[in-house]
Amino acid sequence: MTIHAQGAVDAAPAPFDPFELQDTVSGNIRDPYPRMAELRRQSPVHVGPIDLGDGADEVDPDKPQPVTVFGFDEAVQVLRDNETFSSTVYEGIMGMVMGRTILQMDEPEHRLHRALVSPTFRSKVLEQWEGDLVQRVVNELIDGFAPRGEADLVQELTFNFPVQVIARILGLPRSDFPMFQRWAIHITSVASNWERGVAASEALRDYFADVLAERRRRPADDLISELLVAEVDGRRLGDEEIYSFLRLLLPAGVETTYRASGNLLYGLLTNPDQLHRVMEDRSLIPDAFEETIRWEPPVTVILRRAMRDTDIAGVPVREGADIALLLGSANRDERKYEHPELFDVFRASRQSVGFGFGVHVCLGMHLARMETRVAINTLFDRLPDLRLAPADGQDLHIKGMAFRSPIALPVAFTPA
Ligand code: HEM
Repeated sequence: MTIHAQGAVDAAPAPFDPFELQDTVSGNIRDPYPRMAELRRQSPVHVGPIDLGDGADEVDPDKPQPVTVFGFDEAVQVLRDNETFSSTVYEGIMGMVMGRTILQMDEPEHRLHRALVSPTFRSKVLEQWEGDLVQRVVNELIDGFAPRGEADLVQELTFNFPVQVIARILGLPRSDFPMFQRWAIHITSVASNWERGVAASEALRDYFADVLAERRRRPADDLISELLVAEVDGRRLGDEEIYSFLRLLLPAGVETTYRASGNLLYGLLTNPDQLHRVMEDRSLIPDAFEETIRWEPPVTVILRRAMRDTDIAGVPVREGADIALLLGSANRDERKYEHPELFDVFRASRQSVGFGFGVHVCLGMHLARMETRVAINTLFDRLPDLRLAPADGQDLHIKGMAFRSPIALPVAFTPA
C-alpha cells in the first residue's frame, strides 16, 4: 500500500454493488412512525419490551426492564443528565468492534477526548475542505452520470460521496477508496455479520497503523496528521485511541450522511413545490436539511444506561436499565411540532434531536451540514430540471429501522 497526500489520484473507485448496500439497511420496515405515534400517545416513556413492527427484543431476566423514550422533552431530559444516564451502554457490541471511542465515554474522560479530537472539525478547517475537497468529489460523481439524462442518485451520488469525502479528509490515496468503502460497510453492518465486521475492524487497524507510521515520517495536511500532534493539558492521543476514533468515523460520518442526503433528496423530490422553491432560493438548503434531520433522521435510536434508581418524567427507572431514546419519535412529538408527519421546509421550528443533544451531540454535524449543502447545491446547479422518474410499478420509499433511507432515487434530467 502506498500513502499519498490528500488529493493524489491513482485509479477509479470500484463499481457500486447493490447487494452490499442492501446489506447495510437495518430492519426491513417501511414506516415505523404510526406505531411510534400510537405508543407515544399512550405514554412518552415505556418500561418493558416494545414491538415497533420488527418483533420485540428478547429481555434478559437478570437485568432491569428496558426503557423506551418516545417524547421530545423526555429524550432531552435524559441526554441533559449525563451523570444519571451513562453512555457506557455502547461498550458492548460497538466497543468490541471499534475499540474504546468517545461515544462510550462518560465525564471527565469524554471531555478530554472530545477536546483532543474536536479541533480537527473546527469551522476554519471545514472552510478549507469545502471547495477543493467536497465540491471536487461531488462534481466527479456527477460527471459520471450527467451526460446520460437519467441516474439513480442513491447508487451514483449519495452512497458514494461521504466515504470519499472522509477518505480524502484522512488523506488516503484514491486507489484505496474501494477497499476503504468495503471496510466501512462491513464495520457498519456488524450486527448482521459479526465475523465480517470484526475482520474489517482488524483490517482497518492494520491499514491505519501504516498510515500513522507514514504521517509520522512525513506529516501532511490531513486529519490524521493533526490527530498525531493534538495535545490538551499535556495529554496526547495514543495510537490505539487514534485507530478507535478513525474507525468510529466510518459508521458515524459515512453511513449517516449518505442516508441523510438520500432522505433530503427524497423529501424534496416527492414534494415538487418545495423542490422548486429550494432550487430557486438556495439559502433554503440549510432549512431543508434541518427539516430532513427532524422528519426522517438517519439514526432513529440512541442508547443510555441508568446509573441509579431514578425516573424519567415521573416514570420509575431502575439502576442498570438500558434506555432506548427514539430520536425519530421525539422528532415527531405532536406536543412540540404541528403536523409532525409532514416534510415542511418552511415550518416554524425545526430544532430536533436528530444530531443528539448534550455533551455527546454529534461532533461532525457541521461537516455533515456543509457536505450535504455542497452536494445538493452542485447537483441543482448542474441539473436544474431534475425530477423523479421511477420505472413502471417501482415503489419508492424510505425504509429501515435503526437507520433509515431510500434504497433508490431514480431521476431524469436534460443531459449535461
Ligand atoms: C446527517 C449526518 C449525521 C447524523 C444524523 C449524526 C447523528 C449523530 C448522533 C445522533 C450522535 C449522538 C450519539 C449519542 O449521543 O449516543 C452523533 C455523535 C457523533 N457523531 Fe454524528 N451524525 C452525523 C454525521 C457525522 C459526521 C459527518 C461525523 C464525522 C465525520 C460524525 C461524527 C460523530 C462523532 C465522533 C460522534 C460522537 C460524539 C461524542 O460522543 O462526543 N457524525 N452523531
